[in-house]
Order: sequence, then structure tokens, then C-alpha cells
Amino acid sequence: PVTATATATAPVSAIAPVTATAPGKINVGLRVGPAREDGYHSLASLFLAVSLEETVTLSGRPTTHPRLLLDAASDARLGLAGVPLDGRNLAARAVNAVADAAGEPVAPGSDEATLTLRKLVPIAGGMGGGSADAAAALVAANAWFGSPVPEERLAEMAATLGADVPFALAGGAAAGLGVGDRLSPVEAGAPLHWVLVPSERGLSTPEVFARLDELRAARGETAPEPQAVDEDLIDALRRADPRALAPLLHNDLQEAALDLAPELADALAAGREEGALAGIVSGSGPTLAFLADDAEAAALLARRLADRGYGRATAVHGPVPGARLRAESA
Ligand code: C5P
Repeated sequence: PVTATATATAPVSAIAPVTATAPGKINVGLRVGPAREDGYHSLASLFLAVSLEETVTLSGRPTTHPRLLLDAASDARLGLAGVPLDGRNLAARAVNAVADAAGEPVAPGSDEATLTLRKLVPIAGGMGGGSADAAAALVAANAWFGSPVPEERLAEMAATLGADVPFALAGGAAAGLGVGDRLSPVEAGAPLHWVLVPSERGLSTPEVFARLDELRAARGETAPEPQAVDEDLIDALRRADPRALAPLLHNDLQEAALDLAPELADALAAGREEGALAGIVSGSGPTLAFLADDAEAAALLARRLADRGYGRATAVHGPVPGARLRAESA
């Protein structure tokens, strides 16, 4: 529709680009139940959104499904390996879902619109980077197509895209049940400081879950259904007390990740030797998360780990907010 004040030149002109960001996550605690019939596992997870963010930009004409691009910096760093730039990409699926909800026919992808991903979260790293892309794409697409989806519906859409997308949308800290999609927010008293150590290689999330099933089966062990996130853990996060939190960090997927990537054991030991309060595999790995006392201790730990050859060690903090529009245009 053309308003009285619009100086419309073309019937469907490009609008200003829309940029949104969403955070990667670590699992401060993760208990995994037995495999369900649909292949997923029920979880009890304490999620923490951290200051390593994905950025997506939609530009061009919002009457067209955008083509997917990696920005030059991500492309140089990551190459195209491991990031599908077609309809399998979760961010593309998020845009398509919003376009469908807009109700108006949106033309197939062409050069007239692009969705650009700027990736900082390690790929296949256990930090929910693909899920963050999807959450940011949901928020960006909703603005770009003129807000066809009410906010509460965005969370439902997120859950249909992947188990970790609702948390990337919500951000902060949250206890997650179900497959990690039934979230209860947890108010953390202050930011906690961590050092992340990404790996050279990625791990496949389904493979890590499957290896845990195998390791448990070999021991004749049946995992209980996780009912709730430990109250002690939630309490330590609420109080933002790293010394109380450190001994409570746990991840049922860690043994499976270490089994698939045995070199992680050395990196975990290195972090502890260099002063981390505790270290843990993040989600399905292989990224490691080390807890530090404060920002200064985290910066020092990152430097020491870099000196020991873990050059990609990065100090971060969390909680940080979930997916949101960036004020300025791209
Ligand atoms: O939902 P998402 O695509 O992130 O999950 C990737 C894979 O990880 C699933 O196909 C499944 O094999 C495994 N998974 C699981 N239980 C969960 C979450 C993921 O088994 N709660």
C-alpha cells in the first residue's frame, strides 16, 4: 500500500536493510535422558547466553525470498565448509517461515534480496550457532516483512526450527526441559566470566548423542528421565557466585564428546592448570567453557591458554540478551 506521503518510485522498492543479532550459548548444566522414539533425548539444561554473537542482515526487496550469503570475514575465516547456503540452512528456513506467515506470496529467491550471515560462534561447536542464526533471522525477517508474526508466535516458530532456537530467541539464562525448548527464565544476579576454547574441528550433535547412548548401553545403564535442573546450580547462577557454581558444572554429553575427540582432555587439563575454576564441554562440544572469577581473571586465562597453543581462546561473559534488532541499519 502506498501512503499519501510516500514518494513511491517503484511498486516494490527495496527497503532499508534490517540487521539482527543473537547469542551463542553454553550449557552450565546438562542432564540427558534416554533416547525417545522420535530420536530426540529429553533434557534438563541450564542455558546461559554468552557474548559471542551471530549477526544476520536482510537487504533488498521484501517481496522476494532472499539468497543466503556468508559475509566476507566469516567466509575468509570459515570457508563454506559446514555451512549449507541453501534451503537446509536454519536461518533460511526461519525467513521462509516468516514469509509464509506474511500471507502474501513471496517470490522465489533471486538477486533482489539477500540474507547475509556474519558468524562468530564456532560452527558445529556445541554453542548453538546455527540456532542463533535462526533466532536472529526470525527477528530480522519479522521486521523486514512488516511484522506479520506476533511476538508469542515467534517462540512457537522457533521451536519448530530446532531444539535450541527458542533459547537463542529468549537469551539470558534459562532452565530448559523437554528437548530443551520448554524454558523457564532464571535471573542471574550479575554476569559470569568464561573463557571459550573452540576446536579446529566440529562434532556432529546427533553423533555425540548417539555415542552417549552407546556408552550407556555398553555399561548396561538406563538413564533416568531428567525431571528438573538442579536447584543448587540455579541458585549459584542467581547469586552469580563463580566459586559456588564451579563444582556444580556438569554435562552428560561430555564423556561422549571426549570419546569422539580425545584431544579435548588435554585442553581441559590445560585450562585448569592455567587457573580456571572449572572447565566443561559446552553442549555436544567440542567447544570448551572455562569459568573464571571475574573479567580480569578470564582475560588472563585466555592469554595463558593462547600462549599454550590454544590461540582461539576467547574471554566472554553471560548472561546477555536474546535475539534482537540492531538499532542502526547495516
Ligand atoms: O534440534 P536440533 O536440530 O538442534 O538437533 C540436532 C540433533 O541432535 C537431533 O536430530 C538429535 O539427533 C540430537 N538431539 C537430541 N536430543 C535433543 C536435541 C538434539 O537427540 N534434545
